[in-house]
Amino acid sequence: MKKVGLALLGLGVVGSGTYKILVKNREYIKNYYGVDIEVMHVLEKDVSKAEALGIDKKIVSTDINNVIKNPDISIVAEFFGGIEPARSFLIASLKAGKSVVTSNKEMFAKNWGELETAAKEGNAGLYFEASCVGGVPIIRTLQESMQGNNVLSIMGIFNGTTNYILSNMADKGLEYADVLKEAQRLGYAEANPSADVDGFDSMYKLSILSTLAFHKKVPLDKIYREGISKINKKDIEFGKEFGFTLKLLAIGKRVNGKIEARVHPSFIENNHPLATVKGSFNAVMIVGDNVGDIMLYGRGAGDLPTGSAIVSDIIYCAKQTEHSLTVFDGAKDADFTDDFESKYYIRMSVADKSGVLAKITGVFGKYDVSIDAMQQKQSGDAASVIFFSHKNSEKNVMRAISEIKSLAEVKDVDAVIRVVD
Ligand code: HSE
Repeated sequence: MKKVGLALLGLGVVGSGTYKILVKNREYIKNYYGVDIEVMHVLEKDVSKAEALGIDKKIVSTDINNVIKNPDISIVAEFFGGIEPARSFLIASLKAGKSVVTSNKEMFAKNWGELETAAKEGNAGLYFEASCVGGVPIIRTLQESMQGNNVLSIMGIFNGTTNYILSNMADKGLEYADVLKEAQRLGYAEANPSADVDGFDSMYKLSILSTLAFHKKVPLDKIYREGISKINKKDIEFGKEFGFTLKLLAIGKRVNGKIEARVHPSFIENNHPLATVKGSFNAVMIVGDNVGDIMLYGRGAGDLPTGSAIVSDIIYCAKQTEHSLTVFDGAKDADFTDDFESKYYIRMSVADKSGVLAKITGVFGKYDVSIDAMQQKQSGDAASVIFFSHKNSEKNVMRAISEIKSLAEVKDVDAVIRVVD
């Protein structure tokens, strides 16, 4: 039986979940996978967290040297979150020949190249299944199950907090701020929710997943990002009237040999597979040129779901005789599109008098923005006008909107939401 020494860096929610799975499944893992995984050291300030899990406090410390200098530890699983000290501790571990398992998407997305270099130097492995969409096994699907395809697109709901907020706004008819408060009370949203609601978390995951999908580096600064904090319940309701559901989508696509990567609120038709993904659930759709559509669905956060992805990486890593680190070998930076095409939902408040619509549609025409449908909703002496456009260049739509905002008859352009097929 292969014995494998493991260190856990941090015993927060996911670290504790991982430990619980390893203890509960130890015999099963020995029997079916032929490895005996033993937690040999834990880095954690709060010893009571270790004691609550039945971990002997003799193996708990705050000194990374207790991990790096222990020759019996071959795998380091990191649960700190944030950039430092996670980054430095993992680089030191890799250089010392210890393989790394991490769920830390921000640190990973920002330092992937440096981590790979350190792993090569130490002849160690680098595993990150839990970094994207928690318990949903998307990383190894892309790395190992899609070789018979060119991936044409990867798109999904990569963030549970925002999906919980948008689902509740839609189902209960509540405003964003009220649902956010409730989500914070229930522990679905952080006290500072920016990483989730402003789309950063989805962007980190999209960078990692589209790099794997397209075999090209997709850096964060090439991803368009827009969050959900300006979403008004009115738009969710109007969307419903037209048969649309609102989701925060992360989208990576190959378009004429270039890569397009974006995160933004999106209307999708109610019969779109992603429209059925509700609450804090996540889902990823991949389109391969040979297999066609694939969809993976599951929990993107939580102690046991994310722990399950971490344990899968630990076992996978423990069974390798040689680690493969191929992502950046020969992978040049991608060419990126500098514009993209989308359909749009545009709501504006306008003076309700003759000639206003002609002026607005004149501006759309000037920028070659083609309108599919329009509806007016009355409120007092102003009117809300909703336009649905055909597929148009984003740049042209934004130019048109900027000019429309300057028209005296237009009080404001209240919402611009992309409509995704
Ligand atoms: N905060 C994330 C979410 C989970 O809400 O989906 C971890 O990435």
